[in-house]
Amino acid sequence: MIPREIIDEIVFRNDIEQVIGSYVNLRRAGSNYQGLCPFHSEKTPSFTVFAATKSFHCFGCGAGGDVISFIMRAENLTYIEAVHLLAERAGIDIPEDNSSQERETVSKKRILELNLAAAKFFRECLFDKNIGGEAMEYLAGKRQLNMATIKHFGLGYSPNDFTALTRKMRSLGFTDEELIAAFLAKRSQKSGKLFDLYRNRVIFPIIDTVGNIVAFGGRVMDGSEPKYLNTSDTPAFKKSRHLFALNYARKFAEQEMILCEGYMDVIALHEAGFENAVATLGTAITPDQARIFAKYTKKVIVCYDADRAGQMATSKAMRYLADAGVDCRIIKISGAKDPDEYVKKFGADSFRRVLGESRSGFDYRLEKILGEYNITLADEKIKAAEKICQMISDIPSSVERDICAQKAASALGLSFDSLKSDIARIRNRKLRDFKNKESRDAKLSIKNIGDRVNTDAAKHITASKSEEILLALMMIYDEYRQAAVRGAHGLSADDFSTAFGRRVFEVICELESSDGGYSRSMLGLYFNVDEVSRLEKIELERRQLSKNDNEVFAACIAKMKEEKQSVKDDGDEQLKYIRELFLKNKEQK
Ligand code: GTP
Ligand code: MN
Repeated sequence: MIPREIIDEIVFRNDIEQVIGSYVNLRRAGSNYQGLCPFHSEKTPSFTVFAATKSFHCFGCGAGGDVISFIMRAENLTYIEAVHLLAERAGIDIPEDNSSQERETVSKKRILELNLAAAKFFRECLFDKNIGGEAMEYLAGKRQLNMATIKHFGLGYSPNDFTALTRKMRSLGFTDEELIAAFLAKRSQKSGKLFDLYRNRVIFPIIDTVGNIVAFGGRVMDGSEPKYLNTSDTPAFKKSRHLFALNYARKFAEQEMILCEGYMDVIALHEAGFENAVATLGTAITPDQARIFAKYTKKVIVCYDADRAGQMATSKAMRYLADAGVDCRIIKISGAKDPDEYVKKFGADSFRRVLGESRSGFDYRLEKILGEYNITLADEKIKAAEKICQMISDIPSSVERDICAQKAASALGLSFDSLKSDIARIRNRKLRDFKNKESRDAKLSIKNIGDRVNTDAAKHITASKSEEILLALMMIYDEYRQAAVRGAHGLSADDFSTAFGRRVFEVICELESSDGGYSRSMLGLYFNVDEVSRLEKIELERRQLSKNDNEVFAACIAKMKEEKQSVKDDGDEQLKYIRELFLKNKEQK
């Protein structure tokens, strides 16, 4: 492990305003600095750098921490890697006698070098008639890709051989550990020997916006399983944060982008002239990916496969994209199972027409509901109208509600006025329900449900609040840290109701008792960036309060002990009800 003094020195010499200032345009606001958050999309600055505490916090997305956790997030690095980067920036040498754990971590840089060499090898194999003849026939013949496209996407072929890649990469100086870390090879449990993971597959390199090859997808050429093999997350790659072909598509993205499901869809669309198409990497779209779109474009046209799975995924994509502030439109192709097949069957002009007929999320859902009911029957029509009004009642803008109500009225053959009054009735009822149920605890618990950092918080509303205050005091003041380690007021790890609180407590105590003592800059070694952000937020909230005395400290401990004693069912019943209500509300949205 890197000595505590060196970490402190690194943090000291990397001025947080300067470091963050090289990523974010910061403006002075009083004694602090403000700018647009680099971790989520926003139009008004809620990202703040606090000079006094050398920390940052985004009031929009909750990201926060010190200069090390900023670099971890911004550069997608581990704690150790971030510390090294900052050391280099400040010209500080980190002594080399590091622990084995650290030496084992393969660096992002090495993996990228290895990926590049591997991609070259795969490409050479594809273009070698003796090795890649069949693969070339598959791509150029069966899948009808032209040579320019095959080269443009850097496609390749992994030979039908257990060690072809491993041998070649070793000869170039890459180690077994690096091959394993890059998800290119695996060690056989039986023989202990290394073998290639990609064998007899056509290879799709995944390239980030800087031009690094970060991962691969490999497809079989027959019907065998699994159809695709994709790189798992590695130190250089996080599936949920990349989009296939974004390196090209971002240059054509200003007006709109097309989101489809598969690599082949994207490649076929680019070849047909739709170079703004991208795909997720074999998974459903994530909020991170939705925010990537927000960075590059105003409008996304979702064009998933025509099958049931594709249509289910469409709803999810719509939600995430809307949350990210992107105008989301949907097309449903017919006569072909996916965009790839569609352009090949009907041509680019036809696809362009389909794009032009893309519908808003509302139209899409409206049609879906209309398809579920036979509205020539009075009672089914009533049910459909009720469902549609429910949906419209959740739209925040009144103008938009009116436009949607208009559409719904004409689709259902009902009057605009009657729909409008139904929608108003539903809205009023929802508001009333919400206000009635909104007791203090209910508010807290709703906020805590879905808390991914402290997953137990919703179950222990009062306790988790006390835990947070106690931990904040410990993070801010030496005296409370020392008191905690001493076991003041009988405090111990067992007094914590939430696993997260307990873990934080244990780490702080461990650091406090260690040679170097506690340092906030070391939290990144024990907690991931989201957890660090939470700790930073807890600390920030506490700093803003003046009453941080021993009385508060003791009261927290008492509350925590009390809660631990009386975790009984009465509370659970009520909570269950509130949670159900919450989930129902969410579904209706
Ligand atoms: P073709 O069948 O060649 O047209 O490929 P496609 O790109 O249209 O694939 P499909 O629609 O079947 O799947 C969409 C995406 O899901 C693919 O591009 C892959 O990223 C991923 N995927 C498909 N099958 C598998 C699989 O067996 N394993 C994994 N991990 N991912 C898969
Ligand atoms: Mn396909």
